[in-house]
Parts: sequence; C-alpha cells; structure tokens
Amino acid sequence: MSYYEITGGRPLSGSLAVHGAKNSVLPILAACLLVPGQCVLHNCPDLSDVSATLDILRLLGCQAEREGDTVWIDASALSRSEIPEHLMREMRSSVIFLGALLARLGEAELSYPGGCELGPRPIDLHLSALRALGAEILEEQGALCCRGSTGLRGREICLSIPSVGATENAMLAACGCAGVTAIVGAAQEPEIIDLQGFLQAAGAQVTGAGTPTITVQGGTPLHPVEYRVMGDRIAAATYLCAAAAAGGEVEMTGASADTLTAVLSCLEEAGCTLHTAPDKIALTCRGPLRGIRPVRTAPYPGFPTDAQAILMAALAGGEGATMFVENIFDSRYRHVDELRRMGADIQVAGRAAMVSGVGRLHGAAVRSTDLRGGAALVVAALGAEGTTQVAELRHIRRGYQALDRNLRALGADIREIP
Ligand code: EPZ
Repeated sequence: MSYYEITGGRPLSGSLAVHGAKNSVLPILAACLLVPGQCVLHNCPDLSDVSATLDILRLLGCQAEREGDTVWIDASALSRSEIPEHLMREMRSSVIFLGALLARLGEAELSYPGGCELGPRPIDLHLSALRALGAEILEEQGALCCRGSTGLRGREICLSIPSVGATENAMLAACGCAGVTAIVGAAQEPEIIDLQGFLQAAGAQVTGAGTPTITVQGGTPLHPVEYRVMGDRIAAATYLCAAAAAGGEVEMTGASADTLTAVLSCLEEAGCTLHTAPDKIALTCRGPLRGIRPVRTAPYPGFPTDAQAILMAALAGGEGATMFVENIFDSRYRHVDELRRMGADIQVAGRAAMVSGVGRLHGAAVRSTDLRGGAALVVAALGAEGTTQVAELRHIRRGYQALDRNLRALGADIREIP
C-alpha cells in the first residue's frame, strides 16, 4: 500500500492549472447517455471516480475512450439498463445514472448506493423526484428497479433540500419527459450550471441553473456535442489552502474566483492576500494564519462542505481559534482524529468543531479517511514541522489528479512511497 511522505516547512510558489471538475464531469458523463452519438469532453480529469464511471458506461454498451484530458463517449449502442452492485459500491454517486437511463431507455436497475465515509447517503429526494415524473420505482433487497413504461411526463418537482445529486437526476430525467418540468428548490452549485451548459449545447431546452428553479422542456432529441468541463473549484481551494498552510505565493488558473467567494473571504480574513481575475486566483501568505469568524457549511453560494476539512487543516496549524459548523453531512469530521495525531487542538461537539491554532503542527503517520479528509492531511503536513506519512491514498485519487506531482512543482517536499 503506497503512501505520501511529506516534509513540511517549505513555502510554495508558482502557478498551477487546475484539472477539470470531478463533480461536474460525473453528471455530464451520465448525461452522455441521453445522446445517441459521439460526445467529446475536454478538460476531463484523470481520477479514479471518472475511470469507474467510464467502466459503467462501457458496461451499459457505450464506447468510451480517453486520450489525455479528452474523453469520447458514444452512447449510440446503449443496450443495458442495469448497473451491477460491485460498480455501485465503488462509487455511490452512480445513482446519477438513474435519471439518464430512465430518460433514454425508460428503465433502470441499480443497487442501493452504499453509505460512504460521510455517513448515510440517502437518495429519497432522487426517488421522489423521479416518481413525480411518472417513474415506478420498486425497492427490493437493496436493489432499485425503475420503470417509466407509461412514459414520463413533465411536472413541478419540489426538493425539500437543495440536493446536488437529486437536482441533477431530475434534470436528466426531465429531458426524457414530454412537457415542461420545473425543479423548485434546486441546488445552485456551479457544477449544475456546467451540466446545463452541456445539455443546452446538445440541444436540450434547460434554463435556470444557478437559481432555485430550473425549467426543462423535455422531449427534444439531443445531438452529439463537444464540450469543455469547468475547472475544479474544490481542487483549486485545496492548493490555495496548501499555500496558506505552508506559506508562499501561488497562482491557480482554470478555476474562477466567483465560484469560491466564501472560501476566499475566509482565507483573506485569516491573513492571506488574494488577487483574482476571471480565470485566475493568486494567493500570498506570509506569517501564521489567524483565527476567523465561524465557518458554517451551507448549500451554494455558502461555504462548501467539500472545503471544510481543507480549511480546517490550514487553520489548525495557525494561531487563534475558529469554530466550524458542518451543516450538510452528518459525519464529516473523521479527519479530526488524524489531525490530532499531528498535534492539532480540535474539540468536536455534534456538528460543531472548535479549532484552536497551535502555532505549528508536527509530522506523524496518518491515514486518509475520505477524499477531502485525505487532502486535508496533505495540507496540514505541508505546514507541519518534520515529516508526515499519509496512507490510504485511494481516497485522494478519487478526486485529485497528480496531487503530489502538482505540489512538487510548487516546491513542496512530497513523494509517493510505493
Ligand atoms: C454532491 O454530493 C457532491 N458529489 C459532494 O462532493 C458534495 O459534498 C455534495 O454534493 C454537497 O455539495 C458529487 O457531485 C459527485 P447532496 P451529493 O445530495 O449530491 C442529503 C466530494 O468530496 N440528501 O447535495 O450526494 C445528504 O445526505 C463530494 O467531491 C438527502 O437527505 O450531495 C446530505 O446531507 C462529497 N436525501 C445533503 O442532502 C437525498 O435524496 C446534501 O447532499 C439526497 C441528499
């Protein structure tokens, strides 16, 4: 089992182009199922979650090829509508295929997505949205059998939580419905806007992404499209927090500052200097980070839950205290115990975590607990005194392309030990 060996204390410097967004490319790959022809996706990150998704597409009968960061998907020969359990277990966000398979084939069968490191991952909102469009969904022995045999029909769907995945599933299913669908209470994340951009480019009549109400005029046939996936704003936030933790001066290109305002304002309050342009974010950090006002995770445009562990790791090695409140997931503090092994002073009580900066963390042997928790340990190690080993890299590979190589290019002392 390989691990990262990181020796902290070296400031970061330089410019880095961030890879394509995992949480945008996954729903867009599912949306390719709606298109009987070849779609071309540029800026497609090389991540294990993306590879798993390409395997599912191939298993369903599609052709899927990659060359560098370009991926070709041809769903003309889509022939199967069931996703086997072992692939569902590998990636719970495969539930996003439900809406697209129903829209294209009128049926879908997949196993209940397993829980993950963030606690239970219910899909009740996905199912109620699809049932509202006319899908019959049977849940038996952990499997979901969905039929839209009587034809899906557009109508108003109200989401009680602005669920990203449920919004995306409803958008894709609605493309296969005759009539108009209004998704009220929709998630407003930038990745939803990117999915709408892909669908519009393919000829779908979808509007409203980025607002609480998305409208889909379904039934229009979609045509092949060439599309560039947006940059990964959470990956960009990760590198910026790494520079905040280690000190130095870095520039991220390929991610837009206006998709990260909540994170950037926290970094600024903590003492970093930021300069932003439409496609560029530059951060300078000299001296220890200060404590900041409470960080409460919330649906977009609030502070993103995916950046909670990453910012916490940077502040844990600073000075001053910061309160975090995780409002999105039930169990997203699993990185805290590992940060404590590095000397962090963090008290958790329910959804709240009080971080008291200790001035500097120290190296230790730690293990990734989940994707963003693993990235947080790397961020902490870059600012820590001494050497840290970070194990369980499979979590990190799900969402970061060449994390060690990119950090080395910025001057970090990090290498993967087989
Ligand atoms: C997406 O997950 C992202 N994943 C997550 O990123 C991200 O943390 C999350 O949105 C929130 O922004 C992808 O896009 C692949 P939700 P998703 O449905 O869609 C509850 C990462 O690190 N809920 O918005 O699964 C749910 O339990 C990953 O890149 C229901 O109760 O998130 C959670 O508490 C982690 N019923 C809250 O809503 C449902 O039917 C938000 O979940 C669906 C969700």
